Amino acid sequence: MAKLEFHGELARLRSILREILPEPIFAHSERVSILAGELMSDRGGDPAEAEFIGLVHDVARHLTNSEWIDEAKRYGILIHSMETNHPVLLHGPVGARHLKWKYSVASKQALDGVYYHTFGYPTYNDACWAMFVADKIDPEKIKRNRNLRPIAEMAADRNIPVTDIALAYIEFRVAEADREGLEVHPLLLAARSFLSSKHVQLG
Ligand SMILES: [Fe+2]
Ligand SMILES: [Fe+2]
Repeated sequence: MAKLEFHGELARLRSILREILPEPIFAHSERVSILAGELMSDRGGDPAEAEFIGLVHDVARHLTNSEWIDEAKRYGILIHSMETNHPVLLHGPVGARHLKWKYSVASKQALDGVYYHTFGYPTYNDACWAMFVADKIDPEKIKRNRNLRPIAEMAADRNIPVTDIALAYIEFRVAEADREGLEVHPLLLAARSFLSSKHVQLG
């Protein structure tokens, strides 16, 4: 989608989201949108796509556990055992379906970006990774978990690519899960494998 179309879509979706989302989630979405755009422009990229995906990524974050499960079943989304236990993990996949079928969003990158935004995904472009990073380093989240500050500091260095910041975040989460003896979602491991191999190739 061209830059101007993302701007048009941003305005259209912003008024929808302002209506449907509770204020804290809408405010988080606005912060992620701005931060994702800055991550792109700081690195010489076009911010428009990242701003759009950042704005819409939590379109289904306000649903209840039973709504996430019911909507996932209705759309034929594969439900992993971790998602049965923690239905909030379905808010990305359900959100992507809502954007497509209720709100007529057509961009495949944006829909995939939203679908996988909790764990990241190998086919992500830089705009998606910028949204992913921005979501994790929202200043309100850093306040709740000071251990994430080094990731936010990496993001402030425009010489560090967004994929490297995403990998550092994923390594942080995997190490945390190991320490606490928690299961790691297979998509997080897939994203880590992809980003690690990209890292090795680039040297
Ligand atoms: Fe989310
Ligand atoms: Fe979010």
